[in-house]
Amino acid sequence: MVKQRVLSGVQPTGSLHLGNYLGAVRNWVENQSQYENFLFVADLHAITVPHNPATLAGDTYKVAALYLACGLDLNHSTIFVQSHVSAHSELTWLLNCITPLNWLQDMIQFKEKAVKQGENVNTGLLDYPVLMAADILLYQADKVPVGEDQKQHLELTRDIVNRFNHLFAGKKPVLKLPEPLIRSEGARVMSLTDGTRKMSKSDPSDMSRINLLDSTDDIVKKIKRCKTDLVRGLTFDDSERPECNNLLTIYMLLSGKTKSEVAQECLDMGWGQFKPLLTETTIAALKPIQEKYQAIMDDLGYLESVLRQGREKAQAQANDTLAKAKTALGYSLAL
Ligand code: TRP
Repeated sequence: MVKQRVLSGVQPTGSLHLGNYLGAVRNWVENQSQYENFLFVADLHAITVPHNPATLAGDTYKVAALYLACGLDLNHSTIFVQSHVSAHSELTWLLNCITPLNWLQDMIQFKEKAVKQGENVNTGLLDYPVLMAADILLYQADKVPVGEDQKQHLELTRDIVNRFNHLFAGKKPVLKLPEPLIRSEGARVMSLTDGTRKMSKSDPSDMSRINLLDSTDDIVKKIKRCKTDLVRGLTFDDSERPECNNLLTIYMLLSGKTKSEVAQECLDMGWGQFKPLLTETTIAALKPIQEKYQAIMDDLGYLESVLRQGREKAQAQANDTLAKAKTALGYSLAL
């Protein structure tokens, strides 16, 4: 049986944190043997907001190394860097020319980011979802694991596919219509300083997140100071207690216990008892990842060989789709 293809990526802005891990990378790892996976570092998306050229390449390597450290297996997964495969930029241009401008202007994430950035909004920020569509469509992906915030981008991708195929494909579609792979409930990790907001790399306060590469001291400090409440006894799913739900969820996911086990265990606990438990669990869960990361970073030649191999596999698939799209649009490829 041919395996379905999964495609996803994370941007190399700053380090990966528990939200990226529990919400994305860990799920890729858990499901990887069921699928054929294309997982990349979205370094072209990273320059849609002001970025630092001095750290871009290093951050990109760091994310790729973390993918491996978290357990991605090259037998199931192709790991590559978006900018290494020029077809991403090229298909973006072709798709730009069939994407109505108002589809992009109406995107929620664009409007939110544009408001935040004021005057400093470039065309790339508006075009971000078309690049994301190109990422997905080049690999003819069946499934795209997406969180709540990326759902609208996948919807747009589907609209672009339908429009492209309708306008330019004959009986046989050129681009495949991707489906979302919805994450299980509870995988959404919130900020340590505000349980109603997502844990995010762009939060100015590093105290709001636990990075996968945080030192033991940092993890101790962040959990000690994280926001809680004055209620004794810890429970899931109380809308008045978003921080409580978030911290229990993190504990549940990192300890590997079930929700009812955690609910039972923490029913009568106070924060003074729970916080050291969460700290210990977090440190223990991140330790193997950090050790593996260090071993990979000590052998950059290996990481480069992984990315070179990834680029080749990705290019073969991407260039094939690109050629089909160009032919459909009327370009002649033969020379
Ligand atoms: N936009 C995604 C994010 O910020 C990253 C991304 C880029 C992506 N291209 C993608 C995710 C293609 C899935 C598929 O999380």
